[in-house]
Amino acid sequence: MADQAIPFRRTLIANAVALAPSWGALAILWWLDELAGRATLFAMAGIAVVTVFLVQRYLASLATFARFVGELSDEREPLMPRLAFAPATEELATAAATLSTGWRRQRASMDSLAASAQAIVDGLPDPLIALDRQRRIVRTNLAAALLLGNAGPERDVSTVLRQPQLLAAIDALLETGADGNFARPDQSAVELVLAGPPELDMMAHLRRLPRAAADGSLALVVLHDTTALRRAERMRADFVANASHELKTPIAGLAGFIETLRGPARDDAAARERFLGIMGEQADRMRRLVDDLLMLSRIEQHEHARPDAAVDLERVLRSVLDLLQLKAASRNVRIELELDPGLPRAVGDSDELTIVFQNLVDNAVKYARPSTAVKVAAKPFGGGRIAVAVSDEGDGIPAAHLPRLTERFYRVDTARSRQLGGTGLGLAIVKHVVNRHRGRLDIQSTPGKGSTFTVTLPAA
Ligand SMILES: Nc1ncnc2c1ncn2[C@@H]1O[C@H](COP(=O)(O)OP(=O)(O)OP(=O)(O)O)[C@@H](O)[C@H]1O
Ligand SMILES: [Mg+2]
Repeated sequence: MADQAIPFRRTLIANAVALAPSWGALAILWWLDELAGRATLFAMAGIAVVTVFLVQRYLASLATFARFVGELSDEREPLMPRLAFAPATEELATAAATLSTGWRRQRASMDSLAASAQAIVDGLPDPLIALDRQRRIVRTNLAAALLLGNAGPERDVSTVLRQPQLLAAIDALLETGADGNFARPDQSAVELVLAGPPELDMMAHLRRLPRAAADGSLALVVLHDTTALRRAERMRADFVANASHELKTPIAGLAGFIETLRGPARDDAAARERFLGIMGEQADRMRRLVDDLLMLSRIEQHEHARPDAAVDLERVLRSVLDLLQLKAASRNVRIELELDPGLPRAVGDSDELTIVFQNLVDNAVKYARPSTAVKVAAKPFGGGRIAVAVSDEGDGIPAAHLPRLTERFYRVDTARSRQLGGTGLGLAIVKHVVNRHRGRLDIQSTPGKGSTFTVTLPAA
C-alpha cells in the first residue's frame, strides 16, 4: 500500500498543534530566566524534529486507513494495512473489514434470493407481467418473454398487449379515488384473443398487490392459455351435434317407412318386404353407430392405462384378413399379407389391435379401386418398435384432409362414406387405441394413387 500524499496545510496545522504546548512551556521558562537562550533553542529544535517525524507517520497511517475503508466500500478486498504508528486506527480498520465482509455476505445472499425468486417466476408455465402504478412493465417471466417477444422493462404494457378490454381492466385495477385509496377490488379476470398465428384464447388474471414491491411492481397480469379448453368445448358440442345428426337420418327413415306401412302400403306385400329390408339396414346402421360410440367412449375411459400383454401380430392380422376376405372378394380386391419372419410380439391388447387393423383394412378395401391389391406388411422398426403398414391403390386423400382424418365423424366424402355403410368413427377409434398403446399412426396418401396407413407399436 503506497503512502498517500498528505496536504501541506493539514501537515502544518497538525505539527503546529502538536508543538504548541511544549514550545509554549519552553518559551515561558526562557522568559522567566529559568533556561538559557541557546538551551531553549536546542530543546525546541530537538522537540520539533521528533514531533514532525511522529506527526508525519501518524497522518500517513490515517490516510492509509481512509484509503482502506474507501477500497472496502468499492467492494474490492484490500490487504489489511499495518498501521504501527496509529494502533487505534488499526483496530478501526479491522472492525471496518469485518463489517464489510458481513455486508458483502448479506449482499450475496440477497442477490441469490433475488435470483431464485426470478428462477421460480421464470419456471411458471403461464406468462406473467408485473406492472408499476403507471402501467409500465417492471418485469416479465420467461413465458411472457416468449409469448410477447422481449417486452423490455419501463414500457407501457399497451406496447406489447394492445387489447382494449385488458388495458381497461388494468386501469380499473390501478385507479385510485379522491381519498388516494384504490377504487376497485384487488383482482379481476378478462378473456382475450391474441392474434396469431396461431390465434390463442387467453384468460388474463389481474391482481393488485397490497402495496408496491421494492422494484415498483404493483399489479400482476397472468395470462392463461385456454385455447385447448375452448377447442375441447367446441369439439364436445360438435360431437353431440354430429352424433344426433347421424342418428336423425335413419330414425327419420324408419318413421317414414312405418307411416307408409300403416297407410298406403298396408296391403302391398311386395312393398312391405322391400321396406322391411330397408328398415333392417337403417336399424343396422344405428346399431353400428351406437356400437362405435360405445367403443370409443370405453377406449377413451382407460386411454391413460397402457395395455401390457404380448400380442402375436401374425394371429391378429390373419384373423382380420379372414374376416374381410369376403368383402374384398365382392369388390374384386386382393389382400396380400407380408410378414417379416423375425417379427417380435407387440405390447398391447389383442382385441383392441384387432379393431385397429380391421378398421384400416376395411377402409383400404372400401376405398380401393376394384381389381387392385391391398397390402398389409408388418416388420420390425428401429427403436424396439414394430411397423404395420396397410396400403391400397385407391383414390387417395387430398393433403388438406389428412390432419383432420382421425376426428370423429370427419369424412372426405360424407355421402360416399354413408353409402358404403361408414359411420366416420373408424379412424377416431384407431387413433385412440394407438394412443393408448403409446404407438403412432402415420398417414401418407397420394391423390389418384392410393394411401398407406402405418401403425407403429412397441415391441415386447
Ligand atoms: N384407405 C382410404 N382411402 C381413401 N380415403 C380413406 C381411406 N381411409 C379413410 N379414408 C377417408 O377417411 C374418412 C374417415 O375414415 P373412417 O374409417 O374414420 O370412417 P368411415 O370409413 O367413413 O367409417 P367407418 O370406418 O366408421 O365405417 C373416410 O370417410 C374416408 O373419406
Ligand atoms: Mg373406416
